[in-house]
Amino acid sequence: MSDWPVAGFTSTGSKHPQGIYGDGDASGVPRLMSRSAGCYVWDDRDKRYVDCIMALGAVALGYGHPVVKLAAAAAIEAGVVGPLAPVVEAELAEDLQRLIPRLEQVRFLKTGAEACAAAVRLARAYTGREMVLSCGYHGWLDWAASGPGVPAAVSYLSDVIPFNNIEETRRLIRATGHRLACVIIEPVIEAEPHPEWLATLRAETTRVGALWIIDEVKTACRIAIGGATERYGLEPDLMVLGKALANGFPLAVVGGRRAVMERVADTWISSTLATEFVSLAAARACLDVMQLEDVPATLHKAGSRLFAGLGRLAHEYPDLVTRTMGIPEMCHLEFRDEAFSRGVAIGAARRGVLFKRSAYNFVSLAHDGAVVEQVVDTLAEVLGDIRR
Ligand SMILES: Cc1ncc(COP(=O)(O)O)c(C=O)c1O
Repeated sequence: MSDWPVAGFTSTGSKHPQGIYGDGDASGVPRLMSRSAGCYVWDDRDKRYVDCIMALGAVALGYGHPVVKLAAAAAIEAGVVGPLAPVVEAELAEDLQRLIPRLEQVRFLKTGAEACAAAVRLARAYTGREMVLSCGYHGWLDWAASGPGVPAAVSYLSDVIPFNNIEETRRLIRATGHRLACVIIEPVIEAEPHPEWLATLRAETTRVGALWIIDEVKTACRIAIGGATERYGLEPDLMVLGKALANGFPLAVVGGRRAVMERVADTWISSTLATEFVSLAAARACLDVMQLEDVPATLHKAGSRLFAGLGRLAHEYPDLVTRTMGIPEMCHLEFRDEAFSRGVAIGAARRGVLFKRSAYNFVSLAHDGAVVEQVVDTLAEVLGDIRR
């Protein structure tokens, strides 16, 4: 692949064939795609697949949803960008405020990583402190990363808290104390959050004068429009939204308490194309569909069907599968061995199903009962083959 023009094969790490199929040769599986519609994608040879990966959770209504397409087409017709703040920016902010009342003010960005970085920047500006505790994945930018290229000085300013571990969370927040600017968490990591863990996060951050940020990049517009904050009735200072918000168009949001958001005046959070209006219009349309069709409830129903099917497979193939992981709306199987995991991803793809082996599969509005059954039946066939 040394003559391939894209460094590292593709600009989205999780779309690398190794991420999907594991290390080693995998013949007869798609690596490139040409188009998508509903719950299907077509590879570069025009073979069709049922997709359970759904752009890594960035699409909840199905690919090319007609209402979103119309809104985007109108925004393209209207010129895409310009020198002034577009009307649609404030309109979308008002929609979000109405649907997620904790978003007293918002700022728009293009990626989840940017919006998380903006949330952390605002927390540091608001508190005048530097330390950050995090739990989960918050993007690739320096504050949230480690390894070659990330300055050690930046890494010293953050630490990790373990998901659902109440004692350790309390200990770390208290130990960081008056140096702590914020705690940022993913609310669902392979399991539902424990109510007591969530209560500890709120109480302990308040106790030391730090902010609590919930990164709803995967969960907003999926488990509820307002994500875990809405589902579990939480009270974060800031929230971050992304992925499914604009059904595949690039858009992310940082928002929350007005007093914190107003600190944008003291720091610099800005991007030339944050206000292109195709994504903003797509998000408005997406939110309309979300409400009209009660999309989170439909995703829960379809997801529960998939989750139950995966549970049956875990029960029938205990020699290959350890357990199901996640929640109905975002789930996968845990395999006993990397070879089984690879075998399932490759076998399913050869049979026309794209299924994530070690990270979440996401259903969409386009995944009806028949499609979900097809996915589960295909996985059963593949597991049967591997066992034989
Ligand atoms: C919870 C969470 N936060 C942040 C990000 C980063 O978002 P993006 O890839 O749009 O930068 C992701 C991406 O997977 C995510 O799942």
